[in-house]
Amino acid sequence: MTTTDPASDSTAQRKDDHIRLAMEQHSGETVRDYDHVRFVHHALAGGSRDTVDVSSPAFGWSAPFYVSGMTGGTAKAAEINRGLGIVARETGIPVACGSMGIVLRQPEVAPTFTVLREANPDGFVMANTNANVSGADAARIVEIMGADALQVHVNAAQETAMPEGDRDFSRWEGNIAAIIDAVGVPVIVKEVGAGLSRGTVAALRDIGVGGVDLAGRGGTDFGAIESARRTDSGRHYLAGWGQSSVASLLETAGLDGVGSLGPVGDGGAPRAALLASGGVRHPLDVVRALALGADAVGVAGTFLKVLTTDGEDALIALVREWLTEIADLMALLGTRDVAGLRTTDVLVTGPLREYAELRGFD
Ligand code: FNR
Repeated sequence: MTTTDPASDSTAQRKDDHIRLAMEQHSGETVRDYDHVRFVHHALAGGSRDTVDVSSPAFGWSAPFYVSGMTGGTAKAAEINRGLGIVARETGIPVACGSMGIVLRQPEVAPTFTVLREANPDGFVMANTNANVSGADAARIVEIMGADALQVHVNAAQETAMPEGDRDFSRWEGNIAAIIDAVGVPVIVKEVGAGLSRGTVAALRDIGVGGVDLAGRGGTDFGAIESARRTDSGRHYLAGWGQSSVASLLETAGLDGVGSLGPVGDGGAPRAALLASGGVRHPLDVVRALALGADAVGVAGTFLKVLTTDGEDALIALVREWLTEIADLMALLGTRDVAGLRTTDVLVTGPLREYAELRGFD
């Protein structure tokens, strides 16, 4: 941390620790649940890339993936948010900032978040907060950011892994309902890497969220990050807590009023967009999640790694490559759009199959 960091010492240190430790996690390759999702190859079923439309059924987004919420509050975070804003502006993908709760306590750090909106004045920008803030404070955060939607993170496992973390999660559901009533933009409730279950998603749908972001295990792991920040061994056993994004997609399959695929709820209630994130490494993972019902796919660690290592031009090039490669994969699979991907033959194998059987989703 430098003396120019606008946030208080401990908060700034934590935010910068998250960035450093998340990047260490993204340096190795392991087999993830996404590797157990396979498409049956039909050699004559391919289509033409020229007719493929990669837009998302969610929020009118022109791209099927977005940058999920990460940071803000420090000088380094401001630099990252500026870079992400430029990448989003140049490529048209939606983008979120990290948790803005700190802005309520230290208004002077607001520019480390709003730099993202300034770099990307016309794009789709999501603000981010925890589930403890009041409706009025959530509305303030949205206003400060000039946000088009608000991500609210529910991160009980991460908090439990932190010695200084929250220990009372009992008011989150009611509080999220109050936030929805208070803000004038869609509220997207997300995990931060432990996934959402069927019951959680159904409860969120019933209180009227605009979307859910499954944010599952398999990528950035806050159980591991929070214990690595400590000098003792920490609560290392919380590493790997929760379910993967793919398991969470199996959890949500066919839920009324969730995602553009599922049946519409009684009385034509508005659907909650189904967003998946967590552990996305490349365009095939995006296509796998879309085929399993996601309306769009979020990426955090993989993009942060490129931005912090190689800079914003490299990330702009990568995002453009992903858009092209997703269209290529859709042509290979013979689908013209995201809705069409849901009709492809997808196989779920290995431990994921066992998970689906144990949960009765077979
Ligand atoms: C995050 N994430 C996150 N999420 C959130 O809602 N608010 C936040 O402030 C943060 N902070 C944060 C910092 C850093 C450095 C990373 C890498 C991630 C979680 C993020 O949005 C996402 O849900 C998870 O990282 C899972 O996606 P990946 O990283 O596996 O693609």
